[in-house]
Amino acid sequence: MGVRRVGLVVALVAACAGGPVKPTHPTPEQEAAADALLTGPDWYRNAVFYEVNVRSFADSNGDGIGDLAGLVSKLDYLKDLGVDAVWMMPIMPSPFKDSGYDIADYRNIDPAYGDLAGFDALVAAAHQRNIRVMMDLVLNHTSDQHAWFQDSRTSATSEHADWYVWSDTPSDPNIGCGPAAPTFGDSAWTFEPARNQYYFHRFYPAQPDLNYRNPAVAAEMLDTVRFWLQRGVDGFRCDVIGYLFESATGCNMIPETVDYIKQLRGVLDEFPNTVMVAETDIGLGPVPYLGDGTDMFHMAFDFPYGYFWGVAFLGENSSIAQNALQTVQTQYPPGGQDAMLIGSHDVGRAWSHAQELAWRMQRATEISMFSHATPFIYYGDELAVHDGTTFVVDSRDSARTPMPWTADDPGHGFTTAAAPWIPFSGGADTTNVASEDADPGSMLTFYRQLLTFRRGHAVWGTGDMNVLTLDNPSVLAFTRSDSDEAYLVVESFSEDPQDATAQASVGAIGDVVWGAGAATDDGTTLHVSLPGEGSAVFALSH
Ligand code: GLC
Ligand code: CA
Repeated sequence: MGVRRVGLVVALVAACAGGPVKPTHPTPEQEAAADALLTGPDWYRNAVFYEVNVRSFADSNGDGIGDLAGLVSKLDYLKDLGVDAVWMMPIMPSPFKDSGYDIADYRNIDPAYGDLAGFDALVAAAHQRNIRVMMDLVLNHTSDQHAWFQDSRTSATSEHADWYVWSDTPSDPNIGCGPAAPTFGDSAWTFEPARNQYYFHRFYPAQPDLNYRNPAVAAEMLDTVRFWLQRGVDGFRCDVIGYLFESATGCNMIPETVDYIKQLRGVLDEFPNTVMVAETDIGLGPVPYLGDGTDMFHMAFDFPYGYFWGVAFLGENSSIAQNALQTVQTQYPPGGQDAMLIGSHDVGRAWSHAQELAWRMQRATEISMFSHATPFIYYGDELAVHDGTTFVVDSRDSARTPMPWTADDPGHGFTTAAAPWIPFSGGADTTNVASEDADPGSMLTFYRQLLTFRRGHAVWGTGDMNVLTLDNPSVLAFTRSDSDEAYLVVESFSEDPQDATAQASVGAIGDVVWGAGAATDDGTTLHVSLPGEGSAVFALSH
């Protein structure tokens, strides 16, 4: 009883501060509208994606390792949150030298997570709930334990001799990115005594690059893609896709790789309503991956925003976000869709990027969900899970800790084992689903409210976007509109109240429908004001 009363007081305070209490679940009308938007080939533009680290999501058999059956048991949580598609980090058999991004068998499931029958059961259970299933597709390299490499390394005349990139020298002039450009470690070349040659690896030495100039490799990997599509997956997140081919002059999105991506797209087009999203190179940005909007990726990750939004808030300067949105507005081909995230298994926990300030995370999330993009939520960010401090593979494990479902030690509803495979992040006694569900001021409640606000409104996924030029760098403003509705979105990057002016008109300004603030428009000048840490969405007359 006492606990309930406290909850009520908090709810009233929240109501006074931010207007009426916002709903945490959509109406049946919204759900019906969402169902319609999620049908047909454009479904992904209207969907909310969720990246899940299966190993850390839910453990069904008490061995301390999350698994596919555990994920099935949490699909109702995801459905209730408003998730329409799940992208799983790699689940194929792997020696785990790079957290599953080192694959030893492309047509199977790692026994730690289940088996192919369990995979089929997951796809069926997800589809029953109208949740799509996306796999991680690691094409550039295999594990050094893969049978192909085990054969290839024995001799230059073995069956798979040419399946990898071999050279007599660790500075091969035909490979214009080595030895100085490995992503991990000092050299991209490792000596193999049995063969008396060096093999090329863009990542860890345990991840030899496949040789895509060998037609057998190129064909085998497309067949692998067909194998999973035939099992019913809805698409792929494509790992380091720009690195497939190397040449004397470069190794990143060179013409041969672009051509292969188009072949890959052709395979997906054999399976209606399947989609692929590119892991992009931060330097190149998302645009080169989208082709003409129909012939390469359906979506590309917006890392200029995803990696650097925290820097924007740190400097109270919105230009990083503004540039990202302007790129979408002016450089994306028709049909190309931005994929926005504020956290991922590589980026680190959003909570840290936000300097542990909830409002920064909330504003950053809003930008990912109000701009012309498909939002991707990284598991646990909806709770503001903290970075962990124990590493099993490498420092990126900070963002790969188990999902805390309950306050109960030691397993937090994740596992019944004495200890999970990696310790929970700090704060799991309060930062967990059960505690936050009951708290109207929690990050989970915020995510529920935001996802409910967007649900069933096509304008957020596909409406036109116009980024406004303001005289105040601490504020970001843009409009969204389609044939049904129009909005002005204003986001602050500052803890202090802000005013901003644009020499522009957005038309007649109506109610604040999200957040708090004020705006006037006299036909030539737009003026907005926001409370410190604030944001507002204004309805525009249409
Ligand atoms: C991608 C993955 C990353 C992995 C690398 C090599 O960048 O996101 O986690 O280490 O590819 O596969
Ligand atoms: Ca490569």
